[in-house]
Order: sequence, then C-alpha cells, then structure tokens
Amino acid sequence: MFTSPSREFPFSTQDFDKIRKMIYDYAGIALAPGKEDMVYGRLARRLRALGLSSFGDYLHRIESGDTREFELFTNSLTTNLTSFFRESHHFPALIDQLRVQRERGGTLQLWCSASSTGEEAWSMAISACEAFDTLTPPVQITATDLDTHVLETGRTGIYSADDVEKLDPARVRRFFVRQSDGRYQIRPELKSLVTFRQLNLIAPSWIVRGPFDAIFCRNVMIYFDKPTQARILQRFAPLLKPDGLLFVGHSENLYHSADLFKLRGKTIYQLASAGR
Ligand SMILES: C[S@@+](CC[C@H](N)C(=O)[O-])C[C@H]1O[C@@H](n2cnc3c(N)ncnc32)[C@H](O)[C@@H]1O
Repeated sequence: MFTSPSREFPFSTQDFDKIRKMIYDYAGIALAPGKEDMVYGRLARRLRALGLSSFGDYLHRIESGDTREFELFTNSLTTNLTSFFRESHHFPALIDQLRVQRERGGTLQLWCSASSTGEEAWSMAISACEAFDTLTPPVQITATDLDTHVLETGRTGIYSADDVEKLDPARVRRFFVRQSDGRYQIRPELKSLVTFRQLNLIAPSWIVRGPFDAIFCRNVMIYFDKPTQARILQRFAPLLKPDGLLFVGHSENLYHSADLFKLRGKTIYQLASAGR
C-alpha cells in the first residue's frame, strides 16, 4: 500500500497494478511504475464526481460493465498534449508530398492517427490549403483518436486565444474566425476537409481503409511497448500508397521496423519497397 497521508482516497499497489493492466490491455498504454501519482490525480477526479470513497469501488464499477465510466477512465489516462504546427518541419514536407501526389490526379487521402484535440489535423488541413492556394483543396483527412473527449474538441474546431497565439497572424486571419467570446473557430470551408472518428490503434480492426498519401502517427508510439509499436507499423505499411509517407514524433524511430520503412527525412519515413 503506498497511500500517502495527504491523499483523499486510499490507493494501493494492487489498485495501481490493476489500472495498469486494464489500460494496457485496452489501449496498449504501458504505464511505467512511478506513474502512481499521475494515475491517482487523474482518477481521483472520477471518484469525486461519482461520490465514491475508494478505488476498489471505482474499479468494481468499471468491471461490472459500466461502459460509459470505462470510456471516462480511458479518457482520463490518455495524455493529450499537442499544438498547432507542432514539429513544424513536417508541414513543408507534407506540402511537397501533396503537390507531387496530386500530379497523379484524384483526391489525396491523409490519416492523422492520434489527433488529440485536433490541432494536428487542422494544421494538415491548413497545409493542404497552402499547398494548392485554395480553401477547398483536393484533400480528405481522417482524424482519429482513442479519447472521445478530445475528438469532440477537434470536431468543434474552437480554440482559445492561447492555443492560436503561436500561429502566424496571417494564418489566423485566413483560416480562423474570431468569435464574440474571444476564442477562434476553424473556418467552415476547412471543416469539410477533416472527419473525426474514434479509433483504437490496438483494436483488431480499423475503420480506415486507405490507401493514404500520408499517415501522421506522432507522439503516441512512445506510450506503447516495442511489440505493440511493431504490430501497428506492420498494419500501417499496406495502408500507404507506394509513395506514401509516414510522419512520426521527434523521439520515435523505426529502426526496429527497417524491413518495412526507410528514413526519407527527419522523422519522415517511406515504405522500404518504395523506389525499388
Ligand atoms: C500526446 S498526444 C499526441 C497528439 C498529436 N499526435 C501530436 O503529436 O501533437 C497522444 C494521443 O494519442 C492518443 N492515444 C493513446 N493511445 C491510443 C490508442 N491506443 N489508439 C489511438 N489513440 C491513442 C491519446 O488519446 C492522445 O490524444
């Protein structure tokens, strides 16, 4: 038992281990030992909201089949940090990719596979507008995430002044509408470019079919162990067009999947078979 005297609810090693197993089995998220305080802090809010007095009662409720609470449990344990044009070097590369792929005709297909609150998917949409100098580029973006709460934020496309603060002001003027409450909403024209849907990257089947001109899978693999990462990468490969690109986060590398992907640029990969 590592209950600290300052804690409102008793929280045992068994509680923590059970939570770790549940989130690993469902989402692939491998919580390191040492994350007890984080887990406690995030789930204590749920106990309070439900008027429960112990983690045992809370876990029992989930295990007894309260699916809505299991969804909130999952949402509480995901880490959703993101921002517009995060790892900005990827976006000029995306623009190049869109222009090259467009020469083959047809609507370009992009997948933002851990979209969080939507900033990444909207940055992809803005890049597509800039690539073709229009608010109606020939691009469809599927934005997915496990967390239903962040998907809702992405769908509404409304962000605080702080969220858009680091964007180039010309981009804000062109792609957002300032609301009377001081927040900013993505322009309606861009809304039709992105569809937000729930998708669990470790679920046995995915609602996306591809083939994609680019897949963004950034800053989510870090939460998975190596075998889980390898399984997901194996499933990405057949979803990419022969010249499709996979964009990953700055601390993620695909050395262990060299049979599938080769490096094309800084944290940008292409199929190992491309250009052969
Ligand atoms: C740190 S955010 C990264 C957001 C964005 N890709 C970026 O780089 O800014 C990680 C996201 O991965 C999502 N996630 C975690 N496990 C997942 C899973 N099994 N399937 C799909 N999304 C997952 C989380 O809900 C969270 O929104």
